This record gives sequence, structure tokens and C-alpha cells, in this order.
Amino acid sequence: MIQNIIFDFDCCFLQQEAIEFLIELGLRKFDVTEQQFRLESLRSLAARTETHEVSRGHKMAQQLQISKINQSDVKRASSLMETQLLPEVQMVINYLKENNRQIVVFSRGFEELVLPVTDMLEIPRRNVFTNRLIFDPEREVPAIDEANPLFLQSGKVYLAEYLKNQGRLLGPTAVAGNSRADLSIRKSGIANYFIYFENLRMDEAALSEADFVIRQLDQLLPLVTSPFLTNQKKNTTQEERQAPKYNTILVENIHPIATSRLKDADFNIASYTHSPDVDELTRLTSKCHVLGIRSKTQVRAEILKKMQHLFVIGCFCIGTDQVDLAAAAQQGIPVFNAPYANTRSVAELVVGMAIMLMRDVFSKSNAAHQGQWLKKTTHACELRGKTVGIIGYGHIGSQVSILFEDLGLKIIYYDIVDKLPLGNARRMPSLEMLLAASDIVTLHVPDTPETRGIINEQTLGFMKSGSILINTSRGKVVDLKALKSALVSGRIIGTAIDVFPDEPGSNQERFICELQNLPNVILTPHIGGSTLEAQERIADEVSTKLINFLKTGATIGAVNFPEVDLPPTSDSYRILHIHRNQPQVLAKIHNIFSQYQIHVTAEILKTRDSIGYLIVDIHQDNSAPVLELLSRITETIRVLKID
Ligand code: NAI
Repeated sequence: MIQNIIFDFDCCFLQQEAIEFLIELGLRKFDVTEQQFRLESLRSLAARTETHEVSRGHKMAQQLQISKINQSDVKRASSLMETQLLPEVQMVINYLKENNRQIVVFSRGFEELVLPVTDMLEIPRRNVFTNRLIFDPEREVPAIDEANPLFLQSGKVYLAEYLKNQGRLLGPTAVAGNSRADLSIRKSGIANYFIYFENLRMDEAALSEADFVIRQLDQLLPLVTSPFLTNQKKNTTQEERQAPKYNTILVENIHPIATSRLKDADFNIASYTHSPDVDELTRLTSKCHVLGIRSKTQVRAEILKKMQHLFVIGCFCIGTDQVDLAAAAQQGIPVFNAPYANTRSVAELVVGMAIMLMRDVFSKSNAAHQGQWLKKTTHACELRGKTVGIIGYGHIGSQVSILFEDLGLKIIYYDIVDKLPLGNARRMPSLEMLLAASDIVTLHVPDTPETRGIINEQTLGFMKSGSILINTSRGKVVDLKALKSALVSGRIIGTAIDVFPDEPGSNQERFICELQNLPNVILTPHIGGSTLEAQERIADEVSTKLINFLKTGATIGAVNFPEVDLPPTSDSYRILHIHRNQPQVLAKIHNIFSQYQIHVTAEILKTRDSIGYLIVDIHQDNSAPVLELLSRITETIRVLKID
């Protein structure tokens, strides 16, 4: 339990640094041109301090010189200091005193400006340490007492050490401020915690090493006062303990199965059939916890920043390119999709295409439409007994393997990863060997630098004469010009292509392809995975993932997040802690649990890149101050509680 709090005066108590206030008043004695001139000199001095050409103590002395601060300026500033106070200071100080915490104030400012405030707050003078001005009747501008420890860069650590040695800092100590000088008190081991208060100016280095970050002074209270504060709060009612209702926006006409599943889980749903533009999406999602989209709606970093309440995104489709996944992760937002919901749909189309090509059905059907009766079937074959070569034995490739084997084909496959063969399938040691042995070649690889153009003039040359080629994977995998030559020469007797290097962006755009108007060529507009069943599976799978995340914290299947799952237990409360993946975070979390005597019943941590994700089950429901503390840990991105 924290007993002593050392405050940096300016940062924690004031709306503006005391010296700046003093200078502002002091400059008023000059006309406007003179004021501008002196302000320019002050700015250039500030720039030199940034580059450490001038120490902070000497900077203050020069600031007094440049603005010609005199005794009457100091007196005037002193009498007006109360107007500079942050509104919540009085309440915070009273509260700490009522709870018997010792308050210590360190200030690089001058006692003339600090004491009026600390006296008003009834902080004992023996606990207030400031710089001192020396007024010399000979000199217009006062000097600063250079013998005072606070004149020096390391003055705060010196004073803290002095207090400790005097036995005046008994028990744990926290230091609150916004500078490396404040941080150094914790680093020296005299203070146990450094609480960074985001006020007045930013010190990235101090912030990055802070134990906690607060944005308002009263957020400091739960960090330094009793855990049993919660006892003063009323007990939570049954109604309050009910699961929260998550505001959910579904766009792009997501299948109704998703709506009904989410409604059953008590989510508040608003559904839209169109894909909203940036402005509309920003408006719709201003209070939204869950966002469901399909492939058109763009969720980029700029818009994500505005979605302050968003917990999770569901992409009710296969791909997730439309979302800035890294930016979402940085905001603590997992993104889910249904990558394999249309696997079966693609596999079935491949089988259908193979049959149609082996029998030259499309050319004959087209001719029949034109009134021609082409009954010649010289090359027509059954599939049974033929060899199919599958390139890429992943989700779709292995399904294709099962379906073709059921139809009586021999299966060979080639994959860069050692995949387990299904049924009687055989792995081929090289692509060339697979091509040379197959009557039907079907591609099921991703689009990677290695797979681009994997079927080209050379590899087409390895294929059996009279074989067929099917591509339902990605457009750039096949060199269409080379394929056209192979078709024209008769080496390849038929092909079915569902994916193209350049696909039209909409149904209104014209589709152009070098394979158009060739016989026994099936061209389909990227429909391999588009079936009603696939849409239903996507709706079911993605809504289940969203519900699981918000009811249990599970992130299995998230595309941008550490994947964690912990079975729910009935007698505990679950906390989800999402943080930046840096050393010491877990220690800080455990420290808080130990301070508040929290009984942890289960815990699991996973990290991925810069994100850490911890699920913790705790036994008792005195978690309110603990949640507050966890949210103040510097590395925390988000904390959620699930009852
Ligand atoms: P997957 O990731 O499950 O399988 C891909 C397989 O290819 C993996 O086994 C991998 O090891 C293998 N592979 C990667 N590089 C290779 C290389 N250089 N040589 C040989 N094998 C290699 O992917 P899934 O779900 O089976 O999808 C396959 C393709 O189908 C993807 O490109 C996907 O975009 C596409 N697809 C097309 C659809 C359509 O509507 N036409 C619908 C769904 C997926």
C-alpha cells in the first residue's frame, strides 16, 4: 500500500508551468514590439535547452533575465497562483490526507510561487521543496540560489534520498510527474512506482518507462489508496451483473443467420444492406462495440482511431485485406473471418469443371445454342481411372483429393510443406514429376512470390500431351499467354479458369482475357467459393467467433491477434488485458493482484508481434479498483471484464 506520494508541483497541480505564468505577467510591462522580441529570445533559449546546450537551472536564470522579472512581478504572480490550479487538486489532496497518506511536493519553481498554493492546500511546509530566488538590491533581476539541490538536474533524487535517510519516507512511495527527473526517483529505488501524469508537456522517455499513466489527477487515487474502497460502494444488483448489451453494426447485407445468432446472444443489432462510405461508417460506429462487414467496406487506420468503443471486427467473408489489421491490433481490436467456409464449394466446382472439360461440354452446349448439332465425341473421357495432380494440398486441395478419389481417380499432389496424404493420395517429389504424370492438373496454392507464374511456358511443357488445367486459386499463378499457346498448339486440350490477374471491380466493368473465344475453355467470374451454403457457414462461423470473444475472451482464429482460449468457469470473474508486448508488464499486473489480495484461479498469456493478451480468472468480485489500476499500467491498451 502506498504511504507517501511525491508530487511534481507544476505537472500535478497547475494548468501552466509556474515560471511561464511568471514570465507572462512579467512581459506585460513591455510594449508589444518589445514583448515579441523577448518572446523570440525565449523561444531560441527553449530550443537550446531541448538540445541540452543549456541546463534547466541555467535556463530558468536566463528566462528571468530575458523577461526582466523583478520583485513586483514575483509578488503579482504569487498573489494569483490560486487561479492556476487544476480544478481537482483540492479534492485529491483532501482525499489523500483523509486516508493518512504523506504528501511531499518537489518543485523546480520558486517558493514565492509554490508556497501560496501548498499553504492553501495545507501541505506542511517541511514537505515542500522548491528553488529559491535571491533578491539583491544591487540587481534588477533576482538570481537563483545555485546551492539549492533543486537547481541541479539530479536534485529530486538527492532530496528523495535525503528524506529516506531521515526516516521520513516510511513505507512504499509513489512519485507522480511527467519528467525523467521524476522517473529517476523510481529508478534510484527510493520510490516504488512512477506515475506519469499527462499534463503540460510530453516526455516520451519518461512515459515509456512509467508504471502507470493517468490523464486526470483524480485517476491517481485508486493507485495509491485502499483496495477496500470498494466496500464503500453499493453491492452490484442482479440487473447490473447481467451481461452487457453490445451495440453491433452489420453492413453489406450479412446473412440473416448472423443476425439471429448475435441476437440470441443478447447483442443489440443494427443491420444495413449497403457498404457505407468513410463518413457514414464513422457516424454509424461512434458508439459501436462490434462491427460486421463483408469485403467491400474499408476499415483503415484513420477511421479505426475514431471507433473508440469498438471491441471487435467480424469480416463475414474469406479475406481481410479491407481492414488495417496492424492498426486494429494496436487498438486492441481482434479481427475474425471465416477463411475456410467456402472450401467445399470450390472443391465441388473443380470436379464439375473437370467433367465438363473431359467431355468438351461447353463448346457443344454453345454450338447447340447456336443451332448446331455437334455429336462428334472423339476425345470424350470418363474421369474414372485418370490421374489428377493437385498443386497445393491445403484446405481446398485436400478436399479436391477426397472428392476425386471417390470418383475413382488416382491422386498425386505437390506441396512445399510435408502434408499428410488423404486416402490413397501420393505426394510427388517435384512439380515437374507431378505435371508429367497428370491427366488433370488443378491449382490450389496461395498468391506468393514463389507461386506467381508457377504455370508458365516451361512448366506447361512438362504437362502430358492432351491433359487439362484448372485454376481456381489465384489469377497470377498462371501465365495466360503461355497457356493460350499451349491450347492453340493442342498440348493442353481444355482449361477452366475462375481467377484472373486482372479482374473487373464490378459487374458493370468489361472483362477482357486472352483466352476468350477459344474452344473447350471455361471462364467463370471468380465464383468458386460463392454458394448459399458458404454464405451460411461464414455467417455462422464469424458470429460464433464474435460471441466467443465477448463472452469468454477466446481469440482462436483471429487474424491479427494472439490466439488464446480458456474454458469459462462458473464461479469466477474474467478479466481480459490487452497490452503492448514489453518486458515487465506481467510483473506489474501480478503486483496489482498481490496488493489487492486477488485470488487468481486461472491465467493464460499469449503474445503476437507487438501485442500481448492475457486472460485472468479471479475469485472475488472486488475487481473495480483492480480494473482501474490495470487500465493505468503504461503498456495497457484495453481492459475488459466478463462476468
Ligand atoms: P491453404 O492455405 O489451405 O492451402 C494452400 C497450400 O498451398 C498449402 O498447403 C501450402 O503449403 C501450399 N503451397 C504454398 N506455396 C506453394 C508452392 N510454391 N508450391 C506448392 N504448394 C504451395 O489455402 P486454401 O484455402 O486451400 O486456398 C487455396 C487457394 O484458393 C488460395 O489461393 C485461395 O485464395 C483460393 N481460393 C479461391 C476461391 C475462389 O472463389 N476461386 C475461394 C477460396 C479460396
